[in-house]
Amino acid sequence: MTLGFRPIRDDDVAATVELWRRCGLLVAWNDPQRDIAFARSVANAEVIVGDDDGQVVASVMVGHDGHRGWIYYVATDPERRGQGLGKAVMAEAENWLKRRGVPKGELLIRRTNTAVQGFYLAIGWTEEPVVVHAKRFEDTPAIGLATVDTVVTALEMLERPTRPTAPAPAGTPTALIRANPPTVRFYRWLYDGVGTPWTWTARRWLSDAELAEAISDPAVEIYVLHVGGVPAGYGEIDRRHGADAIELAYFGLTPEFIGRGYGRYLLDAVVDLAWSAGPCARLWVHTCDLDHPRALGGYQKAGFQPFRQAVETIRDPRLVGLPLPERRTSGVARDDGDSATVTTLPRPLS
Ligand SMILES: CC(C)(COP(=O)(O)OP(=O)(O)OC[C@H]1O[C@@H](n2cnc3c(N)ncnc32)[C@H](O)[C@@H]1OP(=O)(O)O)[C@@H](O)C(=O)NCCC(=O)NCCS
Repeated sequence: MTLGFRPIRDDDVAATVELWRRCGLLVAWNDPQRDIAFARSVANAEVIVGDDDGQVVASVMVGHDGHRGWIYYVATDPERRGQGLGKAVMAEAENWLKRRGVPKGELLIRRTNTAVQGFYLAIGWTEEPVVVHAKRFEDTPAIGLATVDTVVTALEMLERPTRPTAPAPAGTPTALIRANPPTVRFYRWLYDGVGTPWTWTARRWLSDAELAEAISDPAVEIYVLHVGGVPAGYGEIDRRHGADAIELAYFGLTPEFIGRGYGRYLLDAVVDLAWSAGPCARLWVHTCDLDHPRALGGYQKAGFQPFRQAVETIRDPRLVGLPLPERRTSGVARDDGDSATVTTLPRPLS
């Protein structure tokens, strides 16, 4: 048995909710998946699980509100009660709070759950002479489990473009340097810097280990544009799926450098690298209606042809604190009946 405690991961969620079900912690008015997602999305909360050889055997949700610490979803595997797991997972929560300078923790026990009071008393959590009041807000937006539909347009380029490569804007010295590989910290900074206004969140959901695996793959090329030595944007070429489906997976500038002539230069340069740095039969890119309004047109000007549009559902960006941007009109063409959500484009969009 190798018991350890760590923050919950995506692949623990189902087992954790099942543990809560077996422990009688699920109630109709709380959605456990949403509760987990919400806690994971903020810096001042954590869901900690006890992992015993890959099995979730204990859990606690801990957080603070800038004053007191709060504890929820304390649970241990019913088959493993009385072995110190409850005490151990609570110690993890207590340490989590202490490390953040929180001097006192509080928790609520349902009146129907009288049995558990002995546990908390046994581990030093005393009953307080307080009356708890609560108010449920009926008009809170459904942040958390809510998802957002986006219209995603995929564009492709089947041969190397013959157009002249756009020059770098004159003035400040410009350099395009491959980050080979970038550190996770630098990559997150770049990804958030470029993508935050356009609600890029896919990679925010990855753990550091998952992200490191993706960006350090030799088939993934990340080219960072430097203007006067300052990172100004990047293009990421993903060759992991072979020469027939090379993807310009990410492309963009940080807000300070938009509208200064660097976009066209960077796009042409990265497209040229995609075609010249290895075998390439088809280069494709996708953009959605949350991206910069000129992204679609920019890709077309650079020589990409739209070939597919589909509605995709993404996790609510508000979970990571990003407001929902205004939806742009996406230029959906006709539905050819292939599927309810996929549209094959008869001609390039303009
Ligand atoms: C409450 C719970 C987490 C305790 O887990 P556990 O793994 O049995 O706890 P531990 O073995 O670490 O017990 C720690 C101490 O509490 C004592 N204890 C545990 N349950 C107790 C109970 N119901 N009454 C009195 N004492 C209890 C143990 O005897 C032990 O005391 P010790 O340190 O003096 O030996 C577990 O029973 C559970 O998951 N219950 C269902 C979910 C629940 O009600 N959660 C709380 C919501 S507020």
